[in-house]
This record gives sequence, C-alpha cells and structure tokens, in this order.
Amino acid sequence: MLVNATAMLQAAAKGHYAVGAFNTNNLEWASSILDAAEELQSPVILQCTSGAAKWQTSYKVVADLVKQLVEDKNITVPVALHLDHGTYEDVFKCIEAGFTSVMYDGSHEETFDLNLQRTAEVVKAAHAKGISVEAEVGGIGGVEDGVASNGELADPEQCKAIADLGVDFLACGIGNIHGIYPENWAGLSFERLGEIKALTGDLPLVLHGGTGIPVEQIQKAISLGISKINVNTDLQVVFAEATRKYIESGKDQQGKGYDPRKLLKPGRDAIVERTKELIVEFGSEGKGWA
Ligand code: 13P
Repeated sequence: MLVNATAMLQAAAKGHYAVGAFNTNNLEWASSILDAAEELQSPVILQCTSGAAKWQTSYKVVADLVKQLVEDKNITVPVALHLDHGTYEDVFKCIEAGFTSVMYDGSHEETFDLNLQRTAEVVKAAHAKGISVEAEVGGIGGVEDGVASNGELADPEQCKAIADLGVDFLACGIGNIHGIYPENWAGLSFERLGEIKALTGDLPLVLHGGTGIPVEQIQKAISLGISKINVNTDLQVVFAEATRKYIESGKDQQGKGYDPRKLLKPGRDAIVERTKELIVEFGSEGKGWA
C-alpha cells in the first residue's frame, strides 16, 4: 500500500528500529526492493533523486511505475515513495507527480534563514496534500548525483528551529558521508546525535550515507533516535558485482544469455538479497503493521 512515511517512521522511533530508504533507478530496482520488503513484511521507503528521475524521464514516470508495481505485485506492507535531496522546485514537481513523501534539502541554500523559510513553505504545501516532509540541516559529505557538501556536524539549535516548523523527519549531519567511506573516516558522532535528539524530542531522525557504516554504529545510532536509514551505493555495488560475474563467466555469450531478462537477473536477485539483509540489520523485519 502506498502511504506517506510519517506513521511508519513514528512507529520506528517508538519501537527502536529503523526503516530502510532505498534509492531506486529503474524498474529492476523498484521491483526488487518491493519484493524484499514484502517477503520480510517490512515497511519500506523507495526514494528517487532528481538524477534518477531524469534517467527514467520524469518524476511522473517514477510515481506511476512505483504505484502500479505496488498494486500489481499485491504489496501488502506500507510503501512510501520519497523524493531524495530535492531542491525547492523538485519538491513541487513531486507533489504534483504523486509522490507520497518529499525531502527538501535546504542545506545548500545560501543562508540558514532561506533553508528555514523554504522548509516552512514546503511543509505547508506538502501537508495540505497529506505528503510527509524531510528537511536537512548540515550537509552530508561525499557526492550524490552531483550534489556535494562538506559533511559538517549539524548545529543542534538549527535542528530544533527546523523541527519546530512541523517537518515529519529530519536529516542531520553527524559525520556521515554519501558513497564509500574513506579508510580514515572518523565514524559517526554519537555525541552530536545525542545533542540533537535532546532538542528535537520525538522527531524521527534520518541517517544518510547508509552504505558501509559498521553494523555496531548503525545499531547504536538507531538506539539514539535514528529511524530512517538511506542506502543507495550499497545496492549499486551488489548489482554491478553480480552483473560483472555473469559477464565474466561468459554467460551472456551462451545460448540467449544476452537476453536482458537473463542478463539483469543476477543483479536483480542481488538487490533483493542485500535489501533483505539490510532490513534485518535495521530491525524493521515483521514491522509492516507496527
Ligand atoms: P549512500 O549512497 O552512501 O548509501 O547514501 C545514500 C543516501 O544517503 C541517499 O540520500
């Protein structure tokens, strides 16, 4: 069932687990992530960047595809379709296209005041249509679809100011980085997470850059108030590995091994398996209707 992400993340915050928010790129991605969530009876968030929407033509194509997959695959668990790192303009396009949840990433705006002002406008427009809103304070390090930032630790007072606007969940930089973590990565700042949590109360918090964070750190972060974990690179890596193995073993040259349904199947299966592992790691297995 396609829903907004508010209730599932509030339940996660209360139940001390996190819901995985997995980035989708195409039919194979969306379908595989839904299969994993349904099999483990876990709520799930499918999210899409503007780059991935462009790849698929438009936000409307993404929304219609996901909506129809949920219906025709008889997916019974709650599924939210979320805009990942949207600009102010993207948010309004997604509201029109039928997304059930949006992230307005105002951390790149020239001033914090502009982030604050635009987040307030997004909350008003999205909530009028029952759409949930994620905001961001403090950039997340690394580069995702051309969006880069310095990965600062979010200022707890700024987090409180954004939380007070009525956003449904909040992404805050706590040393996390998009993409593969460098060898010398300092790890998550649990101290900063605790300070933010102390000021934002029951608001579900979001951890971006979920790829490659050691399990103990993921679980500690969940225990301290992280309720949504974003994962993108991880599924890209397992898809690429499985596809490379298929081609390197020469299978695409045997019989009709070049058929895209054969060629893409190992990668597709790898996404299902890895998504299931992450759902178990985040603790949302069996929480479809929590
Ligand atoms: P990774 O690519 O590091 O998993 O980050 C995903 C993310 O945070 C999407 O917003």
